[in-house]
Amino acid sequence: MANGGSSSDPAAAPIGVFDSGLGGLTVVRQLSRAMPGEAIVYLGDTARVPYGIRSLATVRQYALEDAAFLLRFAPKLIVVACNTASAAAVEALEAFCRPVDVVDVIRPSAAAALAASKGPIGVIGTEATVASGAYERAIHAIDPRRRVVAKACPLLVPIVEEGRDEADPIVLSVLSDYLRELQRLRPGAMILGCTHYPLLARAIGKLMGPDVALVESGESVAAEVQRRLRAAGLENLGKSGGTLRCFTTDNPQRFAQLSERFGGRKIDVVDLVGTDELRSAIEPADRGFP
Ligand code: DGL
Repeated sequence: MANGGSSSDPAAAPIGVFDSGLGGLTVVRQLSRAMPGEAIVYLGDTARVPYGIRSLATVRQYALEDAAFLLRFAPKLIVVACNTASAAAVEALEAFCRPVDVVDVIRPSAAAALAASKGPIGVIGTEATVASGAYERAIHAIDPRRRVVAKACPLLVPIVEEGRDEADPIVLSVLSDYLRELQRLRPGAMILGCTHYPLLARAIGKLMGPDVALVESGESVAAEVQRRLRAAGLENLGKSGGTLRCFTTDNPQRFAQLSERFGGRKIDVVDLVGTDELRSAIEPADRGFP
């Protein structure tokens, strides 16, 4: 497998990004906006999506396999663009990828929500993300007294992938049902704790009202990545020239077709990698990681 970086200049190494599928392109979009000179290698595990309905142990195993694949490109940092994988596996990923730095989507979003408001914080995410309690832990690690209410919204991922518009009555009806409890909470901030929810931000904002700050992962994650690269002297300071190479584990045509809605640009070349190849990326000694 080709190494994505240059051995002579560590700053030229790529940033590795993975997600269960397409949704992580919402994070890639913000990474490219903030750091237009960076090379990004993206893996979308489309053969095993969705992660959000699986057990945390299974998601952890998948996440380690995804990261092992990206490590073949000698990345300077890995971004876990998937909320569910971040919730299930961040500590395991940090241990597994060391010395490569790992940035998850949960801690930067938790910090951004706390900075945005002094009021209660609402969180919406997949079933697995909400069941993990990861957002509560990340928020309480900074402010143990802050009230947090999290709500699983499992129908939203398929609705977004189906391409339904925010103004679609079905979308509004599903959202109204899911958000009822959070509307009563009157949060100061609400975390869109899933890669797909930024595509519904306008409708969510309308239902929650203008006083609720909506927090999307992309921007705070991009800021955190930039901060870490700068601190390590690994930032690529180019004002343009960044590249994006995408891999999926299934159906690259669908990935290419839907990429523009998520990533804000059309992605023509999507390479296919089998899940067996992902699994074999983990050294035998690392298999069955706890
Ligand atoms: N990428 C997932 C997340 O952010 C959503 C899709 C899935 O369930 O795999 O939680």
